[in-house]
Amino acid sequence: MKKIRVLFCCLGNICRSPTAHGIFEHFVEQHDLTAQIEIDSAGTGDWHIGKAPDPRSAAAALARGYALDHLRARQVAPADFDRFDYVLAMDRQNLADLEAMRPVSFAGELDLFLRYDPEAELEEVPDPYYGGEQGFQHVLDLIERASAGLLNHLVERHQLRLKS
Ligand code: 4NP
Repeated sequence: MKKIRVLFCCLGNICRSPTAHGIFEHFVEQHDLTAQIEIDSAGTGDWHIGKAPDPRSAAAALARGYALDHLRARQVAPADFDRFDYVLAMDRQNLADLEAMRPVSFAGELDLFLRYDPEAELEEVPDPYYGGEQGFQHVLDLIERASAGLLNHLVERHQLRLKS
């Protein structure tokens, strides 16, 4: 079976998208689906290329059991649309920037990540960068739920077999 490739995108690739990357990776590992699903993250901006996740994001995630320290920021590129099947944006500005980059040949899903949480009250994952600790907790809450929804969606849509 062809691997399903998922790319999470935000602005800096140091707060929201690495958080989604680490949490979704954890879920995929828990369900023994690493051979079927590949995960990456990237930012639309270039300021933080090569940097580790923001220490506030990393600490908040680790406190819930998700390690982010293996991740490094990179910028999204048009070639990502050749590689990934799902390109998932954290907010509408990210989505607009990705839409502008999307080649006409892209046949995958480009959408807001929170669309995968059927009960989400928000459409966007708010940028926590200039705010306080509560913003990072909110990001984790939103991303945990959307990650569970995304995994359910992929399992059903691609008929993946879960470990019994
Ligand atoms: P992210 O957060 O898009 O969730 O990684 C941000 C990180 C850095 C900046 C803005 C947002 N910044 O302006 O440097």
